Amino acid sequence: MHEFTFQNPVKLVFGKKSISKLTNELAAYGNKILLVYGGGSIKRNGLYNEVVELLSKAGKELYELPGVEPNPRLSTAKKGAAICKEEGIDFILAVGGGSVLDCTKLIATAAKYEGDAWDFVSKKATPTDAIPFGTILTMAATGSEMNAGSVITNEEMEEKYGWGSPFNFPKFSILDPTYTLSLPRDQTVYGIVDMMSHIMEQYFHKATNTPLQDELCESALRIIMRAGEKLVDDLQNYELRETILLSGTWGLNGFLGMGNAGGDWGTHEIEHAVSAVYDIPHAGGLAILFPHWMKHAMQLNPERFAKFATNVFQVDPTGKTTEETAMEGIEQLRKYWSSIGAPERLKDYHIDESKIELMAEKASVNGPVGRFAQLTKEDVKSILVASL
Ligand code: NZQ
Ligand code: ZN
Repeated sequence: MHEFTFQNPVKLVFGKKSISKLTNELAAYGNKILLVYGGGSIKRNGLYNEVVELLSKAGKELYELPGVEPNPRLSTAKKGAAICKEEGIDFILAVGGGSVLDCTKLIATAAKYEGDAWDFVSKKATPTDAIPFGTILTMAATGSEMNAGSVITNEEMEEKYGWGSPFNFPKFSILDPTYTLSLPRDQTVYGIVDMMSHIMEQYFHKATNTPLQDELCESALRIIMRAGEKLVDDLQNYELRETILLSGTWGLNGFLGMGNAGGDWGTHEIEHAVSAVYDIPHAGGLAILFPHWMKHAMQLNPERFAKFATNVFQVDPTGKTTEETAMEGIEQLRKYWSSIGAPERLKDYHIDESKIELMAEKASVNGPVGRFAQLTKEDVKSILVASL
């Protein structure tokens, strides 16, 4: 294992009717609340009304920023930061999926900064303060509810990057599986692919002697796949939603990555370049790219991929070379994702070869892409071409 320091201060409030704890959680903060949400799903499933009622009973003064986009945009975060500055907002409440949460993280920090909000995403500046914020999560996917990450799209520059800071941790996150019941099948599939990808990005690392982390990752993947394949045909099943919701949080709250020096994240960096240019759903891109990244990276450490194949997909290694076992695991993953309805090719999103160069350039702008496999721009291009 690599040496590490671990801290995760997020208070997780999980379960049926956990929203009843909202008033208590807000008691420590001031009265002016900015409610941040997306394109209307929380109005359709009744959550918006519940939140507004609780806030008004608690005597809170409510301001709103609706319309946060999937792949949240810089301009929307700037709008939110401007409201915070003008109105003297005391606390921000993000209600929605990962995009709403990520946007809120930039609003909270940018509201305490005089420069351009993009400075944090581009790493030109580091946050030194933030307005406190909490979340009510409605979609199992990103883990943003219990991590300090945020991914923002600069729509003018067609750029999308992840960034983080200690100020990006929510004070609390309320997770009631009930609010994820309204998630349509396609978004449910994306969530499953995203959380599995987060676990795999952490599983493929160069550290040695990580048995606890490895087996936690392997069992989390098996649990997600078992629940996931049932859930996509039984969207109203509370218990399956519950399993998937907690799995999404575990997928990226830092616990699985202890001692692995950060994992790989190359597939995420390539996907962010794809969705920066084409604005496609994040996990749709991951489902397409990940198997091709694996085929590329497998040559660096076939044993690791063979272990993945046998422990996650029960591939029988008898009579096979390490490479054959490894390849079978990659194929099983691809088949699983396509069986639940995830896309397989960039063409499914009408993406052709015309912007491969541009996407590879954006992905590799900060040097080699990934840590387990350090990809050059040419490697990224070949993964993108294989994914067409
Ligand atoms: O906007 P609304 O109307 O709320 O609809 C959303 C949106 O259209 C809908 N939705 C969410 N909850 C719903 C619901 N519809 C019905 N019922 C519900 N309960 O789902 C759509 C997608 O929502 P979004 O928040 O965009 O999805 P997700 O949670 O997958 O977030 C994706 C974003 O997170 C970033 C991605 O790059 C992408 O921008 N990521 C953030 C990470 C992090 N902060 O740690 C890590 C991830 O790897 C990822 O990169
Ligand atoms: Zn992701």
